[in-house]
Amino acid sequence: MGKILLLNGPNLNRLGKREPDVYGHETLKDVEEQVRQLVETKHYHLDAKQSNHEGDLIDWIQAAEGEYSGIIFNPGAYTHTSIAIRDAIGSVTVPVIEVHISNVHKRESFRHVSMLAPVCAGQIVGLGTKGYQLAAIYLLEEKE
Ligand code: DQA
Repeated sequence: MGKILLLNGPNLNRLGKREPDVYGHETLKDVEEQVRQLVETKHYHLDAKQSNHEGDLIDWIQAAEGEYSGIIFNPGAYTHTSIAIRDAIGSVTVPVIEVHISNVHKRESFRHVSMLAPVCAGQIVGLGTKGYQLAAIYLLEEKE
């Protein structure tokens, strides 16, 4: 059975409580369940992980090589700062889709730059939590 990894970075464990006007009312559990149901319709398995620590995210990306067909990744604020996560993504052949719930381009200028986008397969920005499902649909269709 193929596997997809759903990764969320710092503060995304607060989804639903954190700035709901920006990020909505769904919890991370809700999002993980929606993506899980979607991938299971195609007989894929979903592993979902969240961490507030850069090193955890790097370890999980490295360990994904050979294990997962793709990674759906909301790196939170590390998007804008982390050369180390960029290097981790660049070191694996697993396609990574970068997802942002909010439209980062409508927000502060420091959110306009992604350190990670050049090494990701693609980016989904500003479509709310639906972006995670759209990323899953892309990865599943790529494998068909
Ligand atoms: C975010 C956007 C980032 O700028 C922010 O630091 C987050 C969430 C988003 O999903 O819109 O934590 O990645």
